[in-house]
Amino acid sequence: MSVFASADPADMAQDYAPLVAQVAGDGWDAVALFPSYGVEIRGLALERPLSEDDQPRLRGLFDTHHLLLFRAQQLRDEDQQRACRYLRPVVDEVAWVSNVEAGFHPETELLYHCDYAFTANPMLGLSLYATVVAPGAAPTRFANNARALTTLPAELRDQLEQLNVVHMVDSVSGRNNVRTRLDDVGGAAASTAWYPRCSRPAVWPHPLTGEPLLFVLEQQASHFDGWTCDDSDELLDIVFAHLYDEANVYEHEWQVGDLIIWDNLAVQHGRRANPNAVRRSLRRVAMNTVTTAELIAGTGFDPAVRARRQSGE
Ligand SMILES: [Fe+2]
Repeated sequence: MSVFASADPADMAQDYAPLVAQVAGDGWDAVALFPSYGVEIRGLALERPLSEDDQPRLRGLFDTHHLLLFRAQQLRDEDQQRACRYLRPVVDEVAWVSNVEAGFHPETELLYHCDYAFTANPMLGLSLYATVVAPGAAPTRFANNARALTTLPAELRDQLEQLNVVHMVDSVSGRNNVRTRLDDVGGAAASTAWYPRCSRPAVWPHPLTGEPLLFVLEQQASHFDGWTCDDSDELLDIVFAHLYDEANVYEHEWQVGDLIIWDNLAVQHGRRANPNAVRRSLRRVAMNTVTTAELIAGTGFDPAVRARRQSGE
């Protein structure tokens, strides 16, 4: 059962009461994963439903620590979806980040990003469950937007609090290993269908918990709103150096049976190239109040739009 009474994003934010970290329940424990954030949950087998008492405990840990790791799980699709629903709504089917199953798996580097940050409704959370991990498969890296803000020099924070960032994606090239810059694709006149984008504060309160986030994403941040890309580059590089400092990055070496669930707004993710296309298969469940089909409708990611373009309409 979902902890959310409403599927409407605005209502959901209004009703949302962040839970503070709860001590784990009978028979299970939460252990710090990385000095600055994240917890490993030990002693819970998610192939079975959690008790009514344990569900809010898990959400409290998620709201506080932003990233949960469970090891040695044996999960069907529906088990992974059920675990995610304890934390956020799930409206999509499962998908694959995989070069084994049919799915999405570029072998190049993936710069840090938050899924669908170029829309008004980025994913609220994401989960990956490892089913195939050959030796040498690329780990996933996570950078903490909440912590990064708390460690930002005051003068820099003051400056960023006055700025909005335009996050965008290039659906024409589909590249994930270079930063997207609006001025490289025609500037303000560039099609919002082929280059969808969204402006929001660089210091952004989490829409559910209210926690302030440093929301500036390496792959998707084009420029500060009202600035040119050239004028934005230097300040963006300073912010990126702070965000991706090793003290703020947890890198996870996958093992089969690992499940990670993270807050897609509080935490960014990316990875280095997957060398030699090493076999790597991660089942993905996204958490949101709107479907991916709704997020991409009318954009260059919409299969109907692509079909029209190919047919020359
Ligand atoms: Fe992603």
